[in-house]
Amino acid sequence: MTSVDLTTLYPAFTTDLGALHQGDCLDLLRTMKDESVDLVFADPPFNLSKDYGATPNGKKINDKMSDDEYLAWCLAWMTECERVLAPGGAFWLYNLPKWNIELGHYMNQLGLMFRHWVAIDLKMMLPIQGKLYPSHYSLLYYTKGKPRTFERPRVPIPLCRHCGGDIKDYGGHRKKLHPEGLNVADVWTDIPPVRHKKTKKRGANELSEKLLDRVIRISSDEGDLVFDPFGGSGTTYAVAERTHRHWIGVEIGDIEPIVARLEGRHHEVEMPNRGDAGKGKPRTATDRPSLF
Ligand SMILES: C[S@@+](CC[C@H](N)C(=O)[O-])C[C@H]1O[C@@H](n2cnc3c(N)ncnc32)[C@H](O)[C@@H]1O
Repeated sequence: MTSVDLTTLYPAFTTDLGALHQGDCLDLLRTMKDESVDLVFADPPFNLSKDYGATPNGKKINDKMSDDEYLAWCLAWMTECERVLAPGGAFWLYNLPKWNIELGHYMNQLGLMFRHWVAIDLKMMLPIQGKLYPSHYSLLYYTKGKPRTFERPRVPIPLCRHCGGDIKDYGGHRKKLHPEGLNVADVWTDIPPVRHKKTKKRGANELSEKLLDRVIRISSDEGDLVFDPFGGSGTTYAVAERTHRHWIGVEIGDIEPIVARLEGRHHEVEMPNRGDAGKGKPRTATDRPSLF
C-alpha cells in the first residue's frame, strides 16, 4: 500500500477561491477525485540540479535524478493529473524541449489529445559549445478529448519600435486585419522573463503572469477549477485569483513566498542571477545540461 503524508490532505492556506497544500503533489493527487479539475498547468523542476531548498522536514528537494528516474517520476504525476482532469479539460506542460518530446509521448499514451507545442521564445539561456543557441522553452497543450473551452486570444499588430510602422506588409491585406489584432500563433515571443529582484517572488524559477494569464484565458472559464502541482512562487494561483478561477495548489518546499504573494506582502528573495540553463549550482563546461 502506498503511504500518503496526511499533512498534504489539509490545506495550509486558503482564500475564497483556492486552497494551497504543503507537501508532495503525488500525495495530494492521490486524494483528489477523478475528473474533478478543468485545467492542469505543470511547470516541474527540469532536473537541472537546481537548488529548490528543502522540505519542512529538512529533506533536500531532488533536482538531480537519472534520466530514467526523472521520466518515471514525471509519468507518475502526469498519470494522476490525467485522471483528475475533467472531460474537455486542458493539460499544459512547460519544460525543456529535451524532456517534452518524451513527456508529449506519455500524454499521447495517456489518451490525451494533442493541441499544440507552443514555443516560448526566451533568449536567456547560456550558449552551449557545439550546439545551436537554445532560445525556446516548450509548452505542451493537450486536452482530454474535444476541448470544452477554447478562447483564441488576439495580440496587438507588431509595430517597428523606431518608426512606429508595420513590421510586415501582410501581402497587401493590411486593411483586412482584425481591429483587435492578430490571432495568437504557436510561437510566443512576447513573454517576458522574470529576472529582476524587485519583481521576483522566489529565488528559483518563476514564470511570467502574462504566460499564465494567456493559458488560463485560452482554456478555462470564470469559475472553473485550475490545478498546478508545482507551486513555486504561486504564479498560477495569483493569476487564477485575478481571473476569477478556483484553484488548488501544492508545493513541497517553502510555501511562505506563495502565501506572502497571495496576501500582497513583500517577500525578499535571493537571486541566482544567471540564465535558466545556468541556475542552481555553479556548473563546469562538462556537466552543463543538454537542452535539446
Ligand atoms: C519550476 S518551479 C515552479 C515555478 C512556478 N511555475 C512559478 O511560476 O513560480 C517547480 C517547483 O516545484 C516544487 N516541487 C518539486 N517537487 C515537487 C513535488 N513532488 N511536489 C510539489 N512540488 C514540488 C519545487 O520546490 C519548485 O518550487
